[in-house]
Amino acid sequence: MSVGGLPSFALGCFLLVLAIEPHVAHGSSRSSTLGVGGGGIAAPPATEGICASSVAIHGYKCQEFDVVTQDGYILSVQRIPEGRAGGGGTNKQPVLIQHGVLVDGMTWLLNPPEQDLPLILADNGFDVWIANSRGTQFSRRHTSLDPLNPDFWDWSWDELVAFDLPAMFDFIHGKTGKKIDYVGHSLGTLIALASLSEGRLVDKLQSAVLLSPVAYLSHMTTALGVHAAKAFVGEITTLFGLAEFNPKGEPVANFLQALCAYPGVDCYDLLVALTGKNCCLNVSTVDLFLEREPQSTSTKNMVHLAQTVRDSVLAKYDYGIAGFNMMHYGDVRPPVYNLSNIPRDIPIFLSYGGEDALSDTKDVQRLLDSLKLHDVGKLNVQFIKDYAHADFIMGVNAKDIVYNQVLSFFKNQQ
Ligand SMILES: *[C@@H]1O[C@H](CO)[C@@H](O)[C@H](O)[C@H]1NC(C)=O
Ligand SMILES: *[C@@H]1O[C@H](CO)[C@@H](O)[C@H](O)[C@H]1NC(C)=O
Repeated sequence: MSVGGLPSFALGCFLLVLAIEPHVAHGSSRSSTLGVGGGGIAAPPATEGICASSVAIHGYKCQEFDVVTQDGYILSVQRIPEGRAGGGGTNKQPVLIQHGVLVDGMTWLLNPPEQDLPLILADNGFDVWIANSRGTQFSRRHTSLDPLNPDFWDWSWDELVAFDLPAMFDFIHGKTGKKIDYVGHSLGTLIALASLSEGRLVDKLQSAVLLSPVAYLSHMTTALGVHAAKAFVGEITTLFGLAEFNPKGEPVANFLQALCAYPGVDCYDLLVALTGKNCCLNVSTVDLFLEREPQSTSTKNMVHLAQTVRDSVLAKYDYGIAGFNMMHYGDVRPPVYNLSNIPRDIPIFLSYGGEDALSDTKDVQRLLDSLKLHDVGKLNVQFIKDYAHADFIMGVNAKDIVYNQVLSFFKNQQ
């Protein structure tokens, strides 16, 4: 058993969210202080809800909702029903915005308001909904399980596919009676693709925007992370005896320190190698990010992601033991998500970056290949040479380069 593989991949994702190198043009470079030094990695999370801390302060209306999943998780959801100037009627098109792993919905709201995707969409007449996956700071609730109970963390991205996303779609559709436009970043793209491939969401989805898509991860260009993930043998195990993977917690911090002290491991190079070189981040935003993110997920989710890297196939969580898989799936191998089953007439806009180490261009190519029978004109692809993973959520020029394209794509569907 090589448990070492898991933490190293986890480290990769962890550094992904920490290793945001601000563009020199936007402030002094803080990259040397962003790493994995001291144990105290970030300040405690904001205790107010996302509406109060990040939306209402900019003069937008914002409502908080709870959405309960079929398996009992209580998810926090924000709705921004109109633009800052207000008005614009009631018959608005809903958009659901879904973050990636180890962050929450606040990650979309850290730049100045005129640069934030949810607020841009609201100002352009959309009814905006922001998702927060189970386990993140405002979605650490369950109808019967306490987060201190390891059973609370017994899920991987399979459950985001099967429960979180469908619950969100049902809720928004119930409130608005409309089909939904979707924006996902990183893991938020994978769970939507997997869900669609199983025939979920299809009847309630109008169109999908996939930013920095991850589906296949086998070309992830991170030496250590890749070797580690490949070596990892998936089993039911918990990192450091914890079912929660808390990137701000002491065990993870200690692990990072130990790893960085290891001969031959250069954490500075690792940072760049793992995330790609984000071209366009604002140093103030990075400070805010370090204060408010990253967020917990389950260790099982990190294991599942490591399997996705290692196995180069998109499948459900592998229990690692034939009997266990048999018990869960009625087969010795976990079922595959077949992306060719995604309905070919769903309008998709996919945007990816040339510097993105996590959403490697070869893996994106493979994703595009699995969509090659998609209806002509329904699949729109944008390639941004200078962009890496975090530029898509926090780039100071993301509005000009990406979000304006997203707006016109959505408007074309109406
Ligand atoms: C960076 O963020 C700060 C604080 O929100 C803001 O005042 C400044 O205009 C931003 N810079 C750019 C280039 O967007
Ligand atoms: C995926 O589905 C397509 C048809 O929808 C089929 O031709 C292909 O063999 C399937 N792939 C796998 C791995 O099951």
